[in-house]
Amino acid sequence: MMKSSITTLVLFILLATSSGIVQSADIPISKFGGVPNSDITQALANAWNEACQSATASKIMIPSGQYRMKAVAVKGPCKAPIELYVDGTIIAPPNPKDLNNEWQWVKFEYVDFLTISGSGVFDGQGATAWKLNDCGKNPNCARLSMNFGFNFVKHSVVGSITSKDSKNFNVNVLGCQNFTFDGFKISNPGNSINTDGIHMGRSTDVKILNTNIATGDDCISIGDGSVQTTISNVKCGPGHGISVGSLGKFTTELPVQDLMVKQVTFTNTDNGLRIKTWPSAPGTSPITGLTYQDITMINVKNPIIIDQEYCPWNQCSKQSPSKIKISNVTFKNIRGTSGTQEGVSLICSSGVPCEGVVLSDVDLTFNGSPATAVCRNAKPMIQGKSPQCTAPKA
Ligand SMILES: *[C@@H]1O[C@H](CO)[C@@H](O)[C@H](O)[C@H]1NC(C)=O
Ligand SMILES: *[C@@H]1O[C@H](CO)[C@@H](O)[C@H](O)[C@H]1NC(C)=O
Repeated sequence: MMKSSITTLVLFILLATSSGIVQSADIPISKFGGVPNSDITQALANAWNEACQSATASKIMIPSGQYRMKAVAVKGPCKAPIELYVDGTIIAPPNPKDLNNEWQWVKFEYVDFLTISGSGVFDGQGATAWKLNDCGKNPNCARLSMNFGFNFVKHSVVGSITSKDSKNFNVNVLGCQNFTFDGFKISNPGNSINTDGIHMGRSTDVKILNTNIATGDDCISIGDGSVQTTISNVKCGPGHGISVGSLGKFTTELPVQDLMVKQVTFTNTDNGLRIKTWPSAPGTSPITGLTYQDITMINVKNPIIIDQEYCPWNQCSKQSPSKIKISNVTFKNIRGTSGTQEGVSLICSSGVPCEGVVLSDVDLTFNGSPATAVCRNAKPMIQGKSPQCTAPKA
């Protein structure tokens, strides 16, 4: 009897181990006084410290209910994997000043094997901040915090939580590696200022999967040093689309390479697939190896746009061409409706023309007729139903 139950136990442990079940210790936030309708800033910091010191995996739990939270910065390295499970709604202070001039409201740094799960909501209470945002005109404008910062985080997953009404970008990803968003949601009104969905830079192997993004700015923006990026099964709108760039402002920038964007639907966005670089700028790091395929456009103003003369609000000179070489960019099976006649616009640099651009089955309509393509300093290979290039109007 005794012997057989030990055998059963040993068998169970073997099975549990081989099937990947790892025991993790639960750390409810209430252990540190974090109860609904309270401010959990300190409770979360304390729970993180306990989890981070633990030699075995742990799971910090924030159950359903509303909580207030000020700026939180949690740091690794930690001794074992940590899961942050959130079912509650966590609310930021509406006044930007109450976030102590932090770049981000919730910041994770130098952590490996982090998982954020649950169906919780991080509500940045951005409406007050959007009204104050004068950064388009005032270079010394007050700092508005982003909802999330992930800095130097590796082998980590952000699951089905929601980022809502950020004061600024929703998420910034910097220096990360093997970092996945899966089932994530971003929810901001279309008229909210500068609320980019996910911005990334200097990161390798970032995946954005099964994610819905509604913003007042870029859904996803891909900054310098983004390598091996995958975006798949994403819904984008309202917003300004998926952008590479803008690039070229600084000589310290790194190349953007190996981007795969597939199964994305854009609905009523300003742009769809965009690459933008500044003219008269010193940066030279190339952009290469981009594939966009199986994309649906629903009333998108500029479905496909390469703009190497990107100069919003005329804040730059177009005297000299962009020094950034764009090459090996494939647009394949791109369908739907354009909000303007020119569904495809490839305005490349006269100094370093685009190379290896392919338009394959780009089938877009404007008011029921085929949309056109305008190209300058680009000679794309045209395949299937795609439009031939015409010269842009002077
Ligand atoms: C990437 O991260 C995931 C999630 O933590 C992990 O399971 C996987 O082993 C990592 N892959 C590599 C190649 O390190
Ligand atoms: C672009 O693709 C061609 C053909 O596959 C390859 O020879 C070339 O090295 C690529 N360019 C860059 C900058 O990677």
